[in-house]
Amino acid sequence: MAFVFWVLILCSVVGTAKITLASTRTFDIDYKKDCFRKDGQPFRFISGSIHYNRIPRVYWKDRLLKMYMAGLNTIQTYVPWNYHEPFPNKYIFEGDRDLEQFLQLANDTGLLVILRPGPYICAEWDMGGLPAWLLRKKDIILRSSDPDYIKEVDRWMEKLLPMIRPFLYQNGGPVITVQVENEYGSYFACDFNYLRHLAQLFRYHLGNEVVLFTTDGAAVSYLKCGSLQDLYATVDFGAGGNVTAAFEAQRHAEPHGPLVNSEFYTGWLDHWGEPHSLVPKGIVAKSLSEILQTGASVNLYMFIGGTNFGYWNGANTPYAPQPTSYDYDAPLTEAGDLTEKYFAIRDVIGMYSKVPEGPIPPSTPKYAYGPVKMERLRSVSDAVSLLSFSGPVNSTYPVTFTDLQQSSGFVLYRTNLPVDCSMPTALSSPLNGVHDRAYVSVDGVASGILERDKCQTINVTGKTGSQLDILVENMGRVNFGKNINDFKGLISNLTLGSEVVTAWLVYSLSIDEAVKEGVLTRGGRAEGPRASGSPLSVPAFYGGSFSIPSGIPDLPQDTYIQFPGWTKGQVWINGFNLGRYWPKRGPQVTLYVPAHILSTKAPNNVTLLELEGGPNTPTCTVEFTASPALNGTMRHTLGHNFRLFNKADLS
Ligand SMILES: *[C@@H]1O[C@H](CO)[C@@H](O)[C@H](O)[C@H]1NC(C)=O
Ligand SMILES: *[C@@H]1O[C@H](CO)[C@@H](O)[C@H](O)[C@H]1NC(C)=O
Ligand SMILES: *[C@@H]1O[C@H](CO)[C@@H](O)[C@H](O)[C@H]1NC(C)=O
Ligand SMILES: *[C@@H]1O[C@H](CO)[C@@H](O)[C@H](O)[C@H]1NC(C)=O
Ligand SMILES: *[C@@H]1O[C@H](CO)[C@@H](O)[C@H](O)[C@H]1NC(C)=O
Ligand SMILES: *[C@@H]1O[C@H](CO)[C@@H](O)[C@H](O)[C@H]1NC(C)=O
Ligand SMILES: *[C@@H]1O[C@H](CO)[C@@H](O)[C@H](O)[C@H]1NC(C)=O
Repeated sequence: MAFVFWVLILCSVVGTAKITLASTRTFDIDYKKDCFRKDGQPFRFISGSIHYNRIPRVYWKDRLLKMYMAGLNTIQTYVPWNYHEPFPNKYIFEGDRDLEQFLQLANDTGLLVILRPGPYICAEWDMGGLPAWLLRKKDIILRSSDPDYIKEVDRWMEKLLPMIRPFLYQNGGPVITVQVENEYGSYFACDFNYLRHLAQLFRYHLGNEVVLFTTDGAAVSYLKCGSLQDLYATVDFGAGGNVTAAFEAQRHAEPHGPLVNSEFYTGWLDHWGEPHSLVPKGIVAKSLSEILQTGASVNLYMFIGGTNFGYWNGANTPYAPQPTSYDYDAPLTEAGDLTEKYFAIRDVIGMYSKVPEGPIPPSTPKYAYGPVKMERLRSVSDAVSLLSFSGPVNSTYPVTFTDLQQSSGFVLYRTNLPVDCSMPTALSSPLNGVHDRAYVSVDGVASGILERDKCQTINVTGKTGSQLDILVENMGRVNFGKNINDFKGLISNLTLGSEVVTAWLVYSLSIDEAVKEGVLTRGGRAEGPRASGSPLSVPAFYGGSFSIPSGIPDLPQDTYIQFPGWTKGQVWINGFNLGRYWPKRGPQVTLYVPAHILSTKAPNNVTLLELEGGPNTPTCTVEFTASPALNGTMRHTLGHNFRLFNKADLS
């Protein structure tokens, strides 16, 4: 430390500070002392995961400061490729996607950075961060040395890594280590040529000094295909397990060097239809203490989870998509609020290193704007000419989202009943090819819902020539395991009775653009009759607006939106896609609404795409409340079957 100080003084005198200083900044591994070494001194990181892509940019600073005040010296983030390159060669690094600004803020806050640029990241993020357009090569083998895949990876990394290079620690920035791939040992391919290629690619763009590493489940079996010479092997494991045994697995791959848990789970992820995951703070604190006691470096995954805005959530298999909230039961809530777990963790860190003094930024205030009356605008079927900018594709058999070059959202498949179906007739997806949920209607009346891995057949009724509309929702691409080549739409034929359904008009829908442009005004048919005894109605848009009350200081503030009587859909405020709501299935009941999307100058416009049916009442409302509800279904019980949370359980 004294040495660095002396050099600083000397350099400012000589006036070549930058060049000389750069050479004093080093970060590497000390294999003799089994630790990291920063500027020649033993170093261990106590890090927390924060994904900039799940937090509005206006809140980055607040969250980073809270992390710093917890006693962390480092943060960890993934870089989701599909977030930055939504179409081939179309890159976005602005606004909420301004990675350089995020790295700069981390450095300004006094935090180092562990960067995990993938290319595959898992992360409960759509397709594990891989762009869906990779599937245009239909038989591509993702995460392997398949030349079609490698070509795109090379092109992406040639864009990304040179941007990172100035932020490496030895170049004056915060990035101390860079991960290659992610839990590769859990993937079936076990392609060492692929890992070797990535290692060389990263070295080529980032130089020879940077510490490159891998992360795998804490078992010898995972490390087998996940680790490679020259990539420092680390492990991940959650609270409540045997820390000694977990690190023994790492020692199997790395007999010397620092012990590292790259993902110490502070909580756990959710799926629609399953209880909200909770991990008690006591278990987290105890395991964290055990880890720090060994002298290991650790990253708390997540320190703040944030939100899967829009369509960004991923899914596991058998098909189970994750909800909009990525709260994760982390020490900072989805909205960045301080929790008891935050202070428990801070206390533990304080036992092993110095925690900064001074005030911790408080939780942000929330405001309950109250109920907002919603009015039915028109059904998707009625609005199709407003929603499909390109018009339909005429195809004998169904085409997929990929064929239409659409990544996320919804596609409408339209045809006519080829035969008389006055008697209920089975409409089926014999090959389970509805990816992921299909809202079926005949002549504007809802017939039923087909759902991947859950429901392959429904009955439809109608006369010959009646219009059969099937709105297919992509609920998020699989992000883990061998099924990440997740095509969307109708990926195989439907049958009606025993015949294959043909003669489709397939509409790629630009719903987000239409909502933003405000073209979805009242019109079309009134809500059709609901089939007797059925709560279903056809997918339709609803609109409403509310003004921020005047005379109350510091508005707008963050809030939560809830959906009393609504079933399932997508919600936008002022054109910002907040994500999916599905209170009927849960566990998530409210969606987080960050204040920056609200306006005090004009009424705020709420748009819903309700897929199954709004409240069956004369007036329907959504409601803004001041507190979240993420546990709408049964609470997770921690009994005798509590075990180490493990990604392997997800495959
Ligand atoms: C990062 O912060 C350090 C001080 O912690 C400073 O020396 C360095 O210049 C900063 N780098 C950048 C890129 O701002
Ligand atoms: C934890 O694992 C270590 C090493 O495998 C073993 O020696 C120890 O008995 C285990 N502790 C417990 C509580 O199971
Ligand atoms: C679709 O294409 C077929 C074959 O070219 C044609 O007969 C049919 O009229 C087309 N349908 C529509 C609605 O354009
Ligand atoms: C479809 O209708 C038939 C005849 O009414 C009935 O037997 C069958 O159970 C129905 N199937 C479904 C999936 O509702
Ligand atoms: C639908 O069936 C036809 C005829 O059997 C077949 O050629 C086509 O490949 C099938 N399409 C899909 C998407 O499965
Ligand atoms: C809401 O929509 C109205 C009508 O289109 C528009 O005048 C207003 O500016 C919108 N509000 C916001 C905050 O964009
Ligand atoms: C959900 O959490 C709240 C707040 O912790 C609690 O009061 C409520 O009982 C929980 N509900 C369920 C269904 O577990």
